[in-house]
Amino acid sequence: MIVKEKYFEIVDEVLSHNFLGKIAVDATVGRGNDTLKLLKAVGEKGFVYGFDVQEDAISSAEKILKDFKNYKLFLESHENIDKIEKFDLVIYNLGFLPGSDKKITTLKDSTIISLKKAKKKINCGGIIIVVSYLGHENSFEEREGVDDFIKNIDQREFKVEKREFYNQKHNPPIVYLIEKKAKS
Ligand SMILES: C[S@@+](CC[C@H](N)C(=O)[O-])C[C@H]1O[C@@H](n2cnc3c(N)ncnc32)[C@H](O)[C@@H]1O
Repeated sequence: MIVKEKYFEIVDEVLSHNFLGKIAVDATVGRGNDTLKLLKAVGEKGFVYGFDVQEDAISSAEKILKDFKNYKLFLESHENIDKIEKFDLVIYNLGFLPGSDKKITTLKDSTIISLKKAKKKINCGGIIIVVSYLGHENSFEEREGVDDFIKNIDQREFKVEKREFYNQKHNPPIVYLIEKKAKS
């Protein structure tokens, strides 16, 4: 399958590269599906950190992560991502927690604060994945702000791709891939 039609196919494609032994961060843990994928990608010698502001999210994620030990979840905003010294992979799956209060969502300002910090902390060759949805409250403002922030990332330091599902109706998600270049 060359052309993708779901956001997770793009995430899976990125994670199929070799991240074994690396440090990864799930900036929006939710039910833990992405955290689980990150744990599989980094293997038992790697480590995964996660952030979410909802207890409901952290506790349901812990259930699906029960077979793993090499992770730590913070009941905190991803604005605190800089408490982690260095990492190689980060995923932001923006929006609200499925099956929960749709009013608790990621927000433009805190997402951008976190992205700024992630850019500083990510190792050369490391990737930041941002999945952005539209439709819920605040999502249009967040999309516009995040898109503008990512568009203006210095091309001397980072490679940036924006992937859209161009012919899909009903506001399909956009996936941004941001890779830190090696120092020349
Ligand atoms: C679309 S869901 C994430 C889906 C999740 N990655 C999964 O695999 O199930 C977005 C999550 O972001 C969380 N969130 C909202 N604001 C946040 C913040 N400032 N820092 C971290 N997480 C936040 C929400 O509580 C929600 O669980």
